[in-house]
Amino acid sequence: MATFAPPPGTADIFADEARRWRYLEDTAMEVFNRYGYGELRTPIFEYTEVFQKGLGDETEVVQKEMYTFKDRGGRSLTLRPEGTAGVLRALSNTDVMNGVEQRVYYYGSMFRGERPAAGRRREFHQVGVENVGRVAPLIDAECIAMLIDFLKTIGINDAKLSINTRGVAEDRVPAGRLLTDYFTGHIGHMCDDCKARLNRNVWRILDCKQEVCRKIVADAPDYVASFSEMSRNYFEEVKHALDALKIQYTIDPLLVRGLDYYVHTVFEVTHGGLGAQTAIAGGGRYELYLPGQKKPVPGVGFAAGMERLLLVQDSLGVDIAPKQLLPIYLVGLGQAARIANLELAGELRRAGIPVELELEERSFKAQLRNVNKSGALVALIRGESELERGVGVVKTMATGEQIEIKDSELFGYLTEICPKKG
Ligand code: HAM
Repeated sequence: MATFAPPPGTADIFADEARRWRYLEDTAMEVFNRYGYGELRTPIFEYTEVFQKGLGDETEVVQKEMYTFKDRGGRSLTLRPEGTAGVLRALSNTDVMNGVEQRVYYYGSMFRGERPAAGRRREFHQVGVENVGRVAPLIDAECIAMLIDFLKTIGINDAKLSINTRGVAEDRVPAGRLLTDYFTGHIGHMCDDCKARLNRNVWRILDCKQEVCRKIVADAPDYVASFSEMSRNYFEEVKHALDALKIQYTIDPLLVRGLDYYVHTVFEVTHGGLGAQTAIAGGGRYELYLPGQKKPVPGVGFAAGMERLLLVQDSLGVDIAPKQLLPIYLVGLGQAARIANLELAGELRRAGIPVELELEERSFKAQLRNVNKSGALVALIRGESELERGVGVVKTMATGEQIEIKDSELFGYLTEICPKKG
C-alpha cells in the first residue's frame, strides 16, 4: 500500500469524482451566465492585509485559520480563505467605485486551518458570485433566487434557506449595547469563548454552538427592532421580493455569519443530508474595506462549498453528471497491427470517439482482459493474417458476436456504431 497520504484536510480527486466536480462547475457557469454573471479568476494568494482589512481583524478566520507566509521579498501573503475579498480587490480596479455594477462568478480552492471532519477541509472548494457596485433590496433577492435556481438544477430541491438582517454600522451600536446588557446578566453561566466574546464581539455569541449558551441566546432581546427604519424597510423589501418569487425561507435572528463585512441581508442554506456541517452555502450583502481605501466597496454575493454539495447529492442519491463515454478497444497482435491500430485510433479520436488500445507486446488473452476492464462495448481485433487480408474483426463484447469488416470500411462502420460526444 502507498503511504503518501496528502496533508490533513486535503484530498486527491480522481477521475470519476472529478467528473462530478466538473459538472457542478459547468452547471454553475450555465446558471450564473443566464443572470448576466461572467467568470473572474483571481490569484490563490493575496497580500495578507486584503483579508485582514476585508474580513475583519476580529473574525475567527483571520485570527486562527489563515495560511500566511512570507515570500522572498519579505511580503506577507495569505492563501485565500474565501473568494470575496480577492474578487473585490480585483474589481476595485474597475469602475465599481463609481457605482457601475459588475456581476462575476468564480470557483476554486480556498484554505482555512480548521479541524478536519466530514465536509470540513483545510483545502476546500467554493463556487461563488459577487454582484458589486450597486445597493438595492431586489439585487439581494435576485442573488438568493439564483442560488436556489443553481441548487435545484443540480438536484438539491429540499435545502432550507435562512435569512436575517445585520443592519448597517450605525444600527449595530445601539443593538450591540442591547445584547451586551442582556448577556452581561447571564455571562456567569456561559462558555469561556462567550465570556471573551462579550466585550470583543458580542454578535458572535449569537451563533455559539454550546448547549448552555444556546438556551440563553434563545431568549435574547429582539435587536432587529432597534435598527433604523431604513434598515428594517430594506429587509422588508427583500422578504417581499422573495415572497413574490415563491422562495421559501425562515427568518433566523441568530444568523450573523462569521465575516465582519456583512450589512443588511445575510443568508445561509442548510441541508439535513450533511451531518454536523449543515451549511452548504452562505452569503449576504456587504461593505468591504480594502487596504488604504476609506470608502468600502458595496456588493452582495454567496459561496457554496463544493465538497458539501457533493455530500448532499450523495445523501439524495443524485448522480446527474454525464458519464464518460465507454471506449472502443483496439486489440493488436504484432507490431504492424499495433501501428495500424494507432493510426485508426487517431482518426476515431478526432471524430469524437474515445479509444483505448494496446501499445505493447501482450498475449491475446491479456489484451482481452484489458478490453473487459475498460468496459468497452466493442473491440476491434487485428493480427498479421487480418492485415494481410485487409480486414478487421469487430467483436461485440456483450454477445461475443464477431464480424469481419474491410479496412476501407472500418472507420465508417465504427463511427456508426460507437457513441460519440455532442
Ligand atoms: P462562508 O460561509 O465562510 O462564506 O463559506 C461559504 C461556504 O463554503 C460554506 O457554506 C460551506 O459550504 C463552505 N465552506 C466553508 N468552510 C469550509 C471548510 N472548511 N470545508 C468545506 N467547506 C467549507 C464565505 O466564504 C463568503 N465569502 C460568502 C460570500 C460571498 N458572501 C458574500 N459573497
